[in-house]
Amino acid sequence: MQPDNQTIEMKKLLVILQMLLLGFSSCVIEPEKNNKTNADMEMEKAFTDTLNGEKVQMFRLSNKNGMSVTFSNYGATILSIQVPNKEGNEENVLLGYDSAKDLFAGKSYFGCIVGRYANRIANGKFTIDGQTFTAPQNNGINSLHGGVNSIDKQVWQVKQMNDAISFSIKIKDGENGYPGEMNLNVIYSLREDNSLVIDYAATTDKTTVINVTNHAYFNLTGNPSNTILDHDVMINASRYTPVDSTLIPTGELKSVKGTAFDFTTAKPIGKDIAASEQQLKYGLGYDHNFVLNSSDVKIPAVVVTEKTSGRKMEVFTTEPGVQFYTGNFLDGNEKGRGMAYQYRTGFCLETQHFPDSPNQPSFPTTMLKPGETWKSQTIYRFSTTK
Ligand code: BGC
Repeated sequence: MQPDNQTIEMKKLLVILQMLLLGFSSCVIEPEKNNKTNADMEMEKAFTDTLNGEKVQMFRLSNKNGMSVTFSNYGATILSIQVPNKEGNEENVLLGYDSAKDLFAGKSYFGCIVGRYANRIANGKFTIDGQTFTAPQNNGINSLHGGVNSIDKQVWQVKQMNDAISFSIKIKDGENGYPGEMNLNVIYSLREDNSLVIDYAATTDKTTVINVTNHAYFNLTGNPSNTILDHDVMINASRYTPVDSTLIPTGELKSVKGTAFDFTTAKPIGKDIAASEQQLKYGLGYDHNFVLNSSDVKIPAVVVTEKTSGRKMEVFTTEPGVQFYTGNFLDGNEKGRGMAYQYRTGFCLETQHFPDSPNQPSFPTTMLKPGETWKSQTIYRFSTTK
């Protein structure tokens, strides 16, 4: 029996209603509220936009100890981190843009989440269970940060809680060449001790690879017209992964002892950055993965201090590695906060698995299988020293 026209119309209406309901329940958007200054409202306006019909908005988490962090659902990006210096003045310690339009056009991954495979994969090729997959070669011959228009260039779903904000995204099966539909969730929480906690979780429906991190560029002086060379850095890593000229690890886990890569005791970033070591020439400075001595999230993986501001940042992570990148490719093309960001005015500490792990059987695995949940946690904790 053929359904009559009225029944067909009723069914269509029901489907539309269901879609609307689903849309609302999976995307609860509550932008920031309360106690906004004029500057806050202007920033919020500048970061409100639409992209391919999807709403892009700004969100804020603040605590009682002078820390406030803003986010965009575009790329699940951290837009700014305001933290007090030793005099109690709150300043932004991140490199960032001035508007959503600039964020969309950005090329340096400021503050965003990168994946599904952060860092490089040699020639963009890797094999799972005998099948070869190809990710875009968007960085010379290699694939960088998940390929082209990856999750850093997409609008995420968002849900704001009291002291946390949750972003999620579905990465399509085959997107940028990677197998498996992946559900990825990133939760940022702000604690009263001035810790920004990032909790990651992901699942897949086909065996795939995963390496996801945040790509924030820090400058603890609060003024990124200063270089970062005078920041003191300690990295709890006795080894690092040396690279070839295209920044792909050779496979060796090399001791940092006696090299410019020895940050086991704190030293200024600039102290050895110009040493004549070949590794520094390849990276134009530090752009290397350090093999952390511990993946215990209670032990600092990295400690950075900056004397003029008295700011200190400790990084804790469950990840086995951290990419220490000293902004060597910043060249004044990226602009924001009333300036053009110059060479080495920001540093990144991208907690992650090692670069090119899918092609390096001796590295900790980055494989994720259906039925498993990938989890990772990183904490950036701010304080001051006198
Ligand atoms: C990479 C750098 C790259 C930067 C921005 C870092 O994670 O290691 O080589 O220039 O991201 O893309």
